[in-house]
Amino acid sequence: MQQNVHMTIRVGVIGAGNIGTSHARNLASLVSGSTVTTLYDFDGVRAAEVAAELGAVAVPTYAELIASDDVDAVLIASPDPFHAEQALACLAAGKPALCEKPLSPDEADAKAVVDAEVALGRRLIMMGFMRRFDPGYLELKGLIGPAGIGDPLIVRNCHRNEVAPYGLDSALSITNAAIHEIDINRWLVGEEYAWVEVLTGRSGPLTPSGQHDPLFILMQTTGGVIVEVEMFVQSQLGYEVTCHVTGGLGVAEMGDGSYVTTAKALHRGHDLPPQWLSRFQDAYRNQLQGWITHLDTGSPMAGASTWDGYVGSIVANRAVESLRSGARVAIELPERPALYAP
Ligand SMILES: NC(=O)c1ccc[n+]([C@@H]2O[C@H](COP(=O)([O-])OP(=O)(O)OC[C@H]3O[C@@H](n4cnc5c(N)ncnc54)[C@H](O)[C@@H]3O)[C@@H](O)[C@H]2O)c1
Repeated sequence: MQQNVHMTIRVGVIGAGNIGTSHARNLASLVSGSTVTTLYDFDGVRAAEVAAELGAVAVPTYAELIASDDVDAVLIASPDPFHAEQALACLAAGKPALCEKPLSPDEADAKAVVDAEVALGRRLIMMGFMRRFDPGYLELKGLIGPAGIGDPLIVRNCHRNEVAPYGLDSALSITNAAIHEIDINRWLVGEEYAWVEVLTGRSGPLTPSGQHDPLFILMQTTGGVIVEVEMFVQSQLGYEVTCHVTGGLGVAEMGDGSYVTTAKALHRGHDLPPQWLSRFQDAYRNQLQGWITHLDTGSPMAGASTWDGYVGSIVANRAVESLRSGARVAIELPERPALYAP
């Protein structure tokens, strides 16, 4: 891509559901230097509605969207199983993409995207692990080290949804939802995982038979940091994400995000949002702005890479193995290609 300052990046959005529509609206109105020209959704009526709202056009196939002369960059927000094939199509066309998480629930499909990008010799795809752009997680990361709470020793995470967003399936809770904690904790700690163990216990009242919810995911990094995740997708209480880091010199806790707490009539507290769009609104916008600025100016890609997406798929798959066997599962990663050197 040409690297002119102040170039407007014309984005094509694949998947106009919940998050795709939110990203498209942000790109069209809140992010500077971008516009949305083209949409594709499997549901043509949905694509046409969002296209009409944004003054864009809806096209009948994603191949047409990627090939369009009006599309400089692609945002992939289709359901999980389609990300890898659509990312591969972007690489084949030489078009940059922001790909929603996960890169793929299937490890082999995720590897195929990394292999194709390595063969191309250029990093064109950024992964939508937007928590790396969240002010709360950024502050936590800034506190890790000798000037803050010291080296991390234990990280405790909770990830709760009001209702299971895509139906209650325990493996999906890992590959679709806990993949956020898998990514953000290796980013926070700066180490890979050595093993993972998934514990199941008594389930909540809305958990169908044969499924487990909540899940307790225990991991240890290669440097010995313990990472635990409570994953409760049908918690009924609202959307809530917390992260508590015990360091060698102190403790840092990201709890309520930027919510205002009120005290009145013998009650102190705050409302919880029903889902993630409001809790992570800054992260989504900052991620999109970071991506557009990178495409416009050629500044380094600030977000997660396809390598991060592939590592996420590997760790999530080992966790699903542990869920099924009840055993601790070792994590072995292939060598990191030079293209993704830190
Ligand atoms: N980063 C985050 O915090 C975050 C949050 C929500 C969703 N996501 C991810 O975004 C993706 C979409 O999630 P959602 O909540 O918007 O789902 P959704 O069900 O609301 O929307 C998905 C849309 O994709 C369309 N679709 C189905 N098959 C398609 C295909 N082959 N190609 C293009 N479009 C297709 C559907 O018609 C629907 O409009 C998922 O992969 C999810 O994991 C990420």
